[in-house]
Amino acid sequence: MCGIVGYVGMRDAAPVIIEGLKKLEYRGYDSFGVATLGSGIELVKHQGRISGYAGSANQLHGKIGIGHTRWATHGVPSDANAHPHLDCARRIAVVHNGIIENFSSLKRDLIARGHRFCSDTDTEVVVHLIEEAYARDHDILVAVQQTVPLLKGSFALLVITADDPRLIAARNQSPLVIGIGDGEHFAASDMTPVLEYTERAIFLEDGDIASLLPEKIEIFHAGTLVSREIQLINWSPEQAKKGGFPHFMVKEIYEQPLAFFNTVCATDTTTLPAFAAEKPSAVTIVACGSSYHAGLIFRYLVEEICGIPARLEFASEFRYFPPPVEGLVIGITQSGETADTLTALRKARAQHCKTLAITNVVGSSVSRVADETLFMCAGPEISVAATKSFVAQLAVLMQITNCWTGGKCDEILQHAHEVIDDTLLIDLSNAVSLCVGAASIFYVGRGPFYAVSLEGALKMKEISYIHAEGYAAGELKHGPFALLSPETPAIAICMPGETYDVMCSNIKEMKARGAPVIALGCVGDSELVDIADIFIPLPGTHLFAQILSSLVVLQIIAYKTAVALGRDVDKPRNLAKSVTVE
Ligand code: AGP
Repeated sequence: MCGIVGYVGMRDAAPVIIEGLKKLEYRGYDSFGVATLGSGIELVKHQGRISGYAGSANQLHGKIGIGHTRWATHGVPSDANAHPHLDCARRIAVVHNGIIENFSSLKRDLIARGHRFCSDTDTEVVVHLIEEAYARDHDILVAVQQTVPLLKGSFALLVITADDPRLIAARNQSPLVIGIGDGEHFAASDMTPVLEYTERAIFLEDGDIASLLPEKIEIFHAGTLVSREIQLINWSPEQAKKGGFPHFMVKEIYEQPLAFFNTVCATDTTTLPAFAAEKPSAVTIVACGSSYHAGLIFRYLVEEICGIPARLEFASEFRYFPPPVEGLVIGITQSGETADTLTALRKARAQHCKTLAITNVVGSSVSRVADETLFMCAGPEISVAATKSFVAQLAVLMQITNCWTGGKCDEILQHAHEVIDDTLLIDLSNAVSLCVGAASIFYVGRGPFYAVSLEGALKMKEISYIHAEGYAAGELKHGPFALLSPETPAIAICMPGETYDVMCSNIKEMKARGAPVIALGCVGDSELVDIADIFIPLPGTHLFAQILSSLVVLQIIAYKTAVALGRDVDKPRNLAKSVTVE
């Protein structure tokens, strides 16, 4: 939620910041703004997106600056609410990602002391508080150090002033990475804006305040100078580009065989921490959104294949209503920054459970919260819709399942990426045509395919804006049947096995209510050819392969439907990729 970029070095700051903000737009694009230290603080900010912006921000002067792309929380998207925000004298500029929870009382007091506010944001209190502290000591680092303890909530802050060549960065519960260049430093919400320039990074800890000059970096924690490890990030700048694809989402869908295979290879039994390599007595999974759906697939696998009792909780519920848990708690979050998942893991630790995080982002907050972290190898995922990070999550979770079965799934895990490859070749044009005209789409399956249905429906509504719901197939008769009509196609995942016959009956029942049915099934299934309106044959016979191939088909149907409807596929309205607020 919101992306921030800062630069100090020998380059013109504005173009570096603008290009960086374009890479962070997936975090929000309600407005953007850049402030540089030229002749005083120079500022450009506007409602709307920075991509495609052809205005004067590039002409801002100075070798130091800060920028922001916004996902609005406090105050509507507008020029006035766009960051950076300035103090009354227009000599200090601040950008912020996060939420200042106590801003109302701070604002009241600041207004009483004569400060003039220009926006409805929570952020503006920060710059006025810094202004007051700066007036006392005339040291911008000290001013930020004195301001931070007054703030409640989450923040990553970047601050510059007209009187000082330093860029100040502060972090509490919102991500902030420092890129270490030669004679230059970068600060950003994640590594994507920095990859062009350096692979060396420091991930600030909560409570850190950094002072950046071109040649020097100092990090303070509770007023004490501290040293932080420099990490090498092996994502290449090319991975964060579209590479000839029309959208990041389709590029990332096509990267899934590699993401899956690389992650399987990186997560063998030797990489599992000892407490996770042992078959636990019980497992609890906490996650949000798509990661929750990956957790639901895992829950079915763990219970059915390993015989381990597993529960799955929305992290947003778990944090407020934590049930008694025991055994292993796994937090799944591709970004590693989802606020609810981080808090849920802290709550689990408070119950003395061992916690394991699964994430795609090295240096992300979750690795500091959980006892141990397993990293997927999906590479940067730019599109808001999770695709390759989702299959990479499955790669980790399937490897854990495999480990708990003593390696019974080794063979399929070595070859599952080939099934994804084959799935990418399937012609889905008929299914897409049906979905494009739909008023609403129902996705149904049973067992792990119920979880795949939920994920398919989420993908569809997220990027096409067509209403879609996933249901356990047996539940449709208990209410949703009232909605079925020729305008509400149903997508049914119907695999051989115990539930095959009942799924076929469900398909016939839906058709009897007028709903056209797209059935996903095993290649060569002549019964599904007969009973469904459209049959999509899937490769692979192993359960893992069927999960992956049905999932990929649903991703592609959602993508192509959204494209046909002219949607902004990579940046769907109202959404941000990383949900760092509750
Ligand atoms: C998926 O397409 C969504 N963008 C969203 O549901 C996402 O999975 C959710 O916000 C959780 O994110 P995380 O994996 O980074 O924690």
